[in-house]
Amino acid sequence: MKHLLDTSSLSREDAIGILDIAEEMTQVSTREVKKLPVLRGRTVVNLFFEDSTRTRLSFEAAAKRLSADVLNFSAKGSSVSKGESLQDTVQTISAMGADAIVVRHSAAGTAQRLADTGWIDVPVVNAGDGTHEHPTQALLDAFTLRRALGGFPASGAAGEGPRGLGLDGAKVAVVGDILHSRVARSNVHLLHRLGADVHLIAPPTLLPWGAQTWPVTIHYDFDEALGSVDFDAVMMLRVQHERMHESFFPNAREYSRLWGLSESRLRRLPKEAFIMHPGPMNRGFEISAAAADSPRALVLDQVENGVSVRMAVLYRLLTGQEETID
Ligand code: CP
Repeated sequence: MKHLLDTSSLSREDAIGILDIAEEMTQVSTREVKKLPVLRGRTVVNLFFEDSTRTRLSFEAAAKRLSADVLNFSAKGSSVSKGESLQDTVQTISAMGADAIVVRHSAAGTAQRLADTGWIDVPVVNAGDGTHEHPTQALLDAFTLRRALGGFPASGAAGEGPRGLGLDGAKVAVVGDILHSRVARSNVHLLHRLGADVHLIAPPTLLPWGAQTWPVTIHYDFDEALGSVDFDAVMMLRVQHERMHESFFPNAREYSRLWGLSESRLRRLPKEAFIMHPGPMNRGFEISAAAADSPRALVLDQVENGVSVRMAVLYRLLTGQEETID
């Protein structure tokens, strides 16, 4: 595995390998040892052409916990505003010494382009490319769900946790703006590959063309879906106004009434069901405060686990190690 560009081409074995390494990384960071020396002398570049809080900071934390140096680039305030191209930007930063590039860009395919063009010759990690994919988000979501459902470790026998489910057969609903969501796309591929039963719940206008061919069950009515399936987890998505023309903005009150995880829908969920959201959340729009702050919400676990999962990805790509930490 040279790059991490998407989950659509990530094998089940590679995905489980990353989740298992992430489990070890979590154990390391909760022990006395706060840092591993495995990437000492290496430099990870965070190249962000779109805004981010969670992804950029957790890649930085992950790299530092592995003792790597970090260079953070943000397009805002950079020479991109003077017309510098993607190629020149990447090669300029690379000339300062980069051993891995983590890239977020509004154009789908940017990470693939960096991996394919030969402008640089280091591992590339896709931190979100337009509406295409966000593979580390899906990996941290799978990791969080696997832990919550008691399925660790997923690589061998069934988990010994309280529900013994792992992800095999877990019923996961992804709700909302699927059309613009790279998180949804990455999760559909990965969760399906890990054995989950994935359901998409959305208005027809917020589903991409071709979603009918994905390995999912589609519902056009949130209440009907809640009445017919006992979900193990419900993953709410933000409506991405920044990727829509103003004339297509859904009415906030109507959207929230039809597609939001309100307090009453929260009560209708099975009482063991978990609530997830990749963030940032729009409280009162796609998710109520009651749901976001519920003891069943895994939102902050997702953020916390993001560091371990990104440590595992950097470790895997930069050391070539497939399983355990030396
Ligand atoms: N989930 C996610 O990608 O969040 P950020 O945009 O804050 O990185």
